[in-house]
Amino acid sequence: MSASPSPRPRSVIVTRLRAAGCVFAEDEARLLICAARTPADLAAMVDRRAAGLPLEHVLGWAQFCGLRIAVDPAVFVPRRRTEFLVGQATALARQAAGPAGQARTRPRAVVVDLSCGSGAVGAALVAALDRVELYAVDIDPAAVRCARRNVAAADGQVYEGDLYEPLPATLRGRVDVLVANAPYVPTEAVGLLPPEARIHEPRVALDGGTDGLDVLRRVITAAPRWLAPGGHLLVETSGRQAPQTVETVTRNGLIPQVVSSEELNATVVIGTRPALQSDGAACDLQR
Ligand SMILES: C[S@@+](CC[C@H](N)C(=O)[O-])C[C@H]1O[C@@H](n2cnc3c(N)ncnc32)[C@H](O)[C@@H]1O
Repeated sequence: MSASPSPRPRSVIVTRLRAAGCVFAEDEARLLICAARTPADLAAMVDRRAAGLPLEHVLGWAQFCGLRIAVDPAVFVPRRRTEFLVGQATALARQAAGPAGQARTRPRAVVVDLSCGSGAVGAALVAALDRVELYAVDIDPAAVRCARRNVAAADGQVYEGDLYEPLPATLRGRVDVLVANAPYVPTEAVGLLPPEARIHEPRVALDGGTDGLDVLRRVITAAPRWLAPGGHLLVETSGRQAPQTVETVTRNGLIPQVVSSEELNATVVIGTRPALQSDGAACDLQR
């Protein structure tokens, strides 16, 4: 159901949103009109958006990888650039699963989404892949509640806690794809973020410490204990942080690769655990 723009004509809403600084005022007005159940509801939504609340928090959902992801107030809004992380993870998980014809006879790919926020990345991976066992973790109870809704249909498990700490120990050495879009904004840059992020998203979702890499370093350091031989860790980072991230990946015995998308302004560092040799020993890095 959607509210008729009357008694607030669409043009009035567009003008109000534009005056509040919404660059895509026409599109936003259309979405708000579709989402509102009554004219009073619409007026309240326009007021919240004009006051600076992120559109996704007003609507209650974000578009991500073609999915509608529920996003509760004070939960990080999944970014378009993170679709690149999903694309890279999907390709590696498909490689791990082998030829399509064999997919049904193989065990399900084990995927972990660390720092899952709304669960958007995990939900998109489940939607893109045939057979997945999904585990997601976040430290923020509001994010965990939201992620549980988004991955419920996929039978995914969502845990509350610090990075790997709440994961079942049985996953150690079994994870095929480990994705983390963890906070990576340097502390002193948090104040420079747009108000939508700075004011309406929790600090724990943004602040990555002095150089932005505090959480990512912990993700990378523990990853080799959780990855299956040949398994992949994928972390979103910035182009500037990529060399340091690669160094951490290498220092922890993973084979590094940097991939980026100019179009999405996205950088992902991949760390692959060396595969086992036929005698069961881990292959050394041959470089
Ligand atoms: C940048 S947001 C990304 C959320 C989600 N991955 C996405 O792409 O939409 C980072 C998330 O990491 C979570 N987080 C921060 N520190 C964490 C920690 N030590 N353990 C687990 N989650 C953490 C925050 O609560 C937040 O939801």
